[in-house]
Amino acid sequence: MKYIYFLFIVMVLLTSCASELTTSASGNSSAESTETLRNIASQKGIYIGSAVADTPLFSKTEPYSNIFVKEFNMMVAENEMKFEYLQTSSNVFYWFIADRMVNVALANNMQIRGHALLWHNQSGWASSVNNPAALSNILSNHIFTVMRRYSNKIAYWDVVNEAIEVNNSMVNSSNFYDHLRKSFWWTNLGSNYVEYAFQLARAADPTAKLFYNDYGIERYNNNPKAFYAYQLVSNLKAKGLIDGVGFQMHIDTNFKPFENGFELNLKRYSDIGVEIQITEMDVRIPVPANSTLYSLQANTYREVLSIALSNSNFTAIVFWGFTDKYSWIPDFFSGFGDALLFNTSYQKKPSYDAVMEVLKNK
Ligand code: XIL
Repeated sequence: MKYIYFLFIVMVLLTSCASELTTSASGNSSAESTETLRNIASQKGIYIGSAVADTPLFSKTEPYSNIFVKEFNMMVAENEMKFEYLQTSSNVFYWFIADRMVNVALANNMQIRGHALLWHNQSGWASSVNNPAALSNILSNHIFTVMRRYSNKIAYWDVVNEAIEVNNSMVNSSNFYDHLRKSFWWTNLGSNYVEYAFQLARAADPTAKLFYNDYGIERYNNNPKAFYAYQLVSNLKAKGLIDGVGFQMHIDTNFKPFENGFELNLKRYSDIGVEIQITEMDVRIPVPANSTLYSLQANTYREVLSIALSNSNFTAIVFWGFTDKYSWIPDFFSGFGDALLFNTSYQKKPSYDAVMEVLKNK
């Protein structure tokens, strides 16, 4: 009898051990399945996003949209909210695609970056208008119509994209007005066109966060473009017309965030109280690539993000796509590619692990 009692106790102990093992095993696996970039980023209080294109987003045969909504909590349309897509001819707006992209983001609790209201590229029919009064009305109508349609839906807008262009003939001028891009906007509206666009955007949706967005403005020292962009943003900030600066960060592995003063550059923006976002990041490498290049690339992502995360005004990192299957790089940078976090078969790359690791360490 004693023996049977002893056996009974042993069995109870074994069962409870076994059940503890199963609980902790299933506990681990559920922790793994919730370990996505968006979950870790939201624990740290920042947004992590990607540019997406409408066609793969609505494809029924690809894992694109599943991965996108699982890993990211911020969306930007790679092209579909640019002027030429939204206003196809004078005062004729085409909303179908932009609306359905916005709906995907909202249905999945994502923030949206609206990109972009004024740019010198992809402006369609407007870029051949040569009449100041007409172009001024076109800009105003565009900004009001688009921002009002998406007020309460799109929280962040790139109001002006890529307006600084360092012009060698003006190299001695330290005034950013002399380095505004001489686009059709400038030719027609004069050097106040940037400020005018921000005034319109403020009036159109006073609750939206208004951003100036540019590339090649990451370096701190000896970098005229970065300096003029900073001047432009400071000037708008002093007038209460801007909320944030977007660093596109289409970079390669030669960018060394520590040596190139990235931290100091971010600091000068946080010192004047503007929000900082990385808006279009990709790190291109020569293709075909190899494991050395993938780890160099991962390291660039790691360093950039770790510096950004150390600035308390930094609120979002957005990649210009997430799978190497859909990226603008091979078309625009000959010989380069593989710039993103997932490969062409949607497998995670070392760059994904690096981003995850820095997020966790924040
Ligand atoms: C690019 C898109 O990725 C391409 O598909 C398109 O053909 C051209 O524009 N800076 C920007 C983005 O602000 O809008 C650009 O996107 C990349 C550079």
